[in-house]
Amino acid sequence: NRNSVVVIGSLNYDNIFKLPAMPQMGETMPVDSASVCCGGKGANQAVQCAKLGMKTYMVGAVGDDYMGKFLVDGLREYEVDTTYVKVVEGTSGFAVVNSMKDGSVFATIVRGANYAITCEDIDQVEHLFDQAKIVILQLEIPVPVVEYIIKKANAHGCQVLLNAAPAEQISFESIKACDTFIANEVEAGFYTGRTIKTPKDAMPAIEEYARKTGRRCIFTLGKHGAVVHDGKEARFVPAVDAVAVETTGAGDSFVGGFAKGQMEGLDFFSSVNFASHCSAVTIGSVGAQNSMPKLEQIKSYLNGKM
Ligand code: RIB
Ligand code: NA
Repeated sequence: NRNSVVVIGSLNYDNIFKLPAMPQMGETMPVDSASVCCGGKGANQAVQCAKLGMKTYMVGAVGDDYMGKFLVDGLREYEVDTTYVKVVEGTSGFAVVNSMKDGSVFATIVRGANYAITCEDIDQVEHLFDQAKIVILQLEIPVPVVEYIIKKANAHGCQVLLNAAPAEQISFESIKACDTFIANEVEAGFYTGRTIKTPKDAMPAIEEYARKTGRRCIFTLGKHGAVVHDGKEARFVPAVDAVAVETTGAGDSFVGGFAKGQMEGLDFFSSVNFASHCSAVTIGSVGAQNSMPKLEQIKSYLNGKM
């Protein structure tokens, strides 16, 4: 009876700046507002899973600084199990997230402690894979560690969701060993070697990539929705109507929502639909984890399916 989720990945201290416009090179621009939020793709996805009511373990690393403490406390607040978040000497991962008026963002991150995770750490948590139904991964920790986890998680019979973000060179063999491959338009462009902006670009790209990998694939396209492939057919899924205030963590919310659908036994396309509703809530306010919906907020979208 597997009922938990294990998320292995990054924790970042997000400094979110609301910019009035794009600064010019050499310009110093005062921001409209600034906030500090818990982030990192791994931690964000863990929080979305926990907020949707799943037993969630986070595996990762923070530095022995105030940011690390803030990040771990943040996860605990949402009842993510942080037993396996280790504290290492040095700086925690942190990010500067610049948020534009239309809600779109561009970010720069310091890898920090996120790169201190090793294959030995994974051996230490191997017992978690016996209880877990789903293992969720991203690429903000060393890629060889991610590749190692995919092998282990498979050996233990877990369903592996790979959010291949940010775009990194990862072995094709590892991608093929996952259950579902999830990428946004920029990352999907990297992996497929095409330019992907609209559903029209994404459709042939996902058809080709799903055939090549033999995996279920999801390419998210922000306000344009998503194109998805369940291994048999590709479909376009429109975005849920919502006003974007600040989109940090929208993709992470999607991944957590998709995991919840899978945990509850929804089919692939219904899981995607549920995931889109989760990210529509997340873009409605500043910050990733605090903006994400709890199950009560989102249940009505499911017509009693959950
Ligand atoms: O996916 C959003 C996240 O990416 C942010 O929280 C930031 O920390 C970066 O890791
Ligand atoms: Na947000």
